[in-house]
Amino acid sequence: MVLGVRSRLFLLSFVLVAIASLSSSVYLERKLRPMLERTVEVELLRHARMVRETLIARTGDHTVEELNRLADRLGNAVASRVTLIRNDGTVLGDSNLSEAEVRAAENHASRPEVIAALASGAGSARRYSATLRTEMLYVAVRYELRSGAGVARVALPLIEVEALVRRLRLFVAVAGLIGLVVATFVSVMAANLFARPFRSLVDKARALARGERTRIEVAPAGEIGHLAGSINRISEDLEQAVRALADERDRFHTVLEAMADAVITLDSANRVTLANPMAMEFLGLRVPPVERPLKEIIRSSELERLLDGDEPVGPISLEFDLPVARRVLTRITPMRATGGHIIVMHDVSEMRRLETIRRDFVANVSHELRTPISVILANSETLADGGVPDTDQAARFLASIHSNAERLSRLIADLLDLSKIEAGRYPLALRPTEIEPELRKAIEAMLGPARMKRQTIESSGGESRTVVADPTALEQVLLNLLDNAVKYTPEGGRIEVRLGTLDDAVRVEVVDDGPGIEPRHCSRLFERFYRVDPGRSRELGGTGLGLAIVKHLVESMGGHVGVEAASPHGSRFWFTLQSAIRSDSE
Ligand SMILES: Nc1ncnc2c1ncn2[C@@H]1O[C@H](COP(=O)(O)OP(=O)(O)O)[C@@H](O)[C@H]1O
Ligand SMILES: [Mg+2]
Repeated sequence: MVLGVRSRLFLLSFVLVAIASLSSSVYLERKLRPMLERTVEVELLRHARMVRETLIARTGDHTVEELNRLADRLGNAVASRVTLIRNDGTVLGDSNLSEAEVRAAENHASRPEVIAALASGAGSARRYSATLRTEMLYVAVRYELRSGAGVARVALPLIEVEALVRRLRLFVAVAGLIGLVVATFVSVMAANLFARPFRSLVDKARALARGERTRIEVAPAGEIGHLAGSINRISEDLEQAVRALADERDRFHTVLEAMADAVITLDSANRVTLANPMAMEFLGLRVPPVERPLKEIIRSSELERLLDGDEPVGPISLEFDLPVARRVLTRITPMRATGGHIIVMHDVSEMRRLETIRRDFVANVSHELRTPISVILANSETLADGGVPDTDQAARFLASIHSNAERLSRLIADLLDLSKIEAGRYPLALRPTEIEPELRKAIEAMLGPARMKRQTIESSGGESRTVVADPTALEQVLLNLLDNAVKYTPEGGRIEVRLGTLDDAVRVEVVDDGPGIEPRHCSRLFERFYRVDPGRSRELGGTGLGLAIVKHLVESMGGHVGVEAASPHGSRFWFTLQSAIRSDSE
């Protein structure tokens, strides 16, 4: 059983008071008895002296009859037994005996008090009296008379002393009891008084432990006041620490939520303890994979092999593919405190894709450059060697050199344009631009080649439209599309440019009735160097960059491009541009 503060305080003070009163009672009792006996002895001595003086003052005969009567009277007067004994031990009178009994009384010479009184004048003894059958206290004094010396003895039964002691003992006991009752009462009061602040302290501390916000109001002085102050301070510190922790946790949470990288933490058994939203997206999970083994959610033999050992691994990086078409660069860092790991996955799919594109581009560029350069080299070497005596033939060689040089120059011009547009260094001056004049210029430029192939170029769509565009860029876009249409549409074909209005944009279409483009090529047609038939494109002087330039220019001007099949055959290249004429409300 656990006692409360109050009960303990009460018990303690009660025991203290009980011990104090008990020990003082014992002490008193111990001292009282001898003191009392001593007082009685002194009293008896006085009586004995008085008996002696009375005897000396007496003038009558000293017969047994006379002395016994005197002893009776004196015994009555002092309420004690009075005995008169001659120095030879013969009893001369006794207040408790009749004359006959006195005469028959045994000799008292051997009694210690008598011996002591005869020797030194006074003596006392305590002894069982055979005559009276009780414990007695004897005090004797010597007397000298003309008729002879003797001893006057006074005795008191010890029973009387005993009764006195008992009565005193009762007083002491009653006093102790009263003290105890008072002490109990005071103890209860004191315990209550002391326990109250403690109790309130305990209650408040309990409330604090439960997490309630509370302050302890206790008188500021004394140890309890200090204690309350300390507890208040501790609770404030605790609250601050909890708040700081919560802030920290929120920050941590926000960072994790906002991260573009996937973060997964593992315990020492490679079980997931935390996964941020990006991790769930990376792994195609809808519920947090907490508590699940890592190998269930990421199937990478390399990762598994690394983590399967007993020792913590890392920091180490590795790259692998996730099922949801993602290539991730993964960093594994051990957490020394828990024996687990942190796995951070960074999506490198786009980076890897761009790397591939760049590699392909470099390969493509080299490939495109190699042919014209080798033609130029071979032809010029032949000419230089003087291996061509015929001037006609020489002219053909020179024409070949020229056309390949032109092709190189076109290629380099296109590449430069493209890289400038991509780098954002192509000077685009976006402003409201009327489409018609640019379209007319582009058509006029293409009329020559079209006429050679007996093709017609028409434009339809009626009224003029103004778009947000750079006029030169717009003309180049139109030129490229018309050039393709003329190039890839057979003789006698029909090319049409249509203008249409969308909500707040203008759609421009270049439609031809040529062979069209198989759907499988459509999505890649706007990539650099992508051609349906590379041989034919080269033959026609194409660089394979025209549509890439178109796409980049249009997108830089805020538009979109696309291609679809025209009916019944042919292709329809389209692009949109922001309309410059705003609706009336604006
Ligand atoms: N109007 C069209 N009809 C058929 N095929 C086309 C048309 N326009 C473009 N193409 C195809 O798209 C490819 C890429 O065009 P482009 O980027 O302009 O390069 P180039 O014209 O230099 O070959 C062409 O090689 C051709 O195969
Ligand atoms: Mg082209």
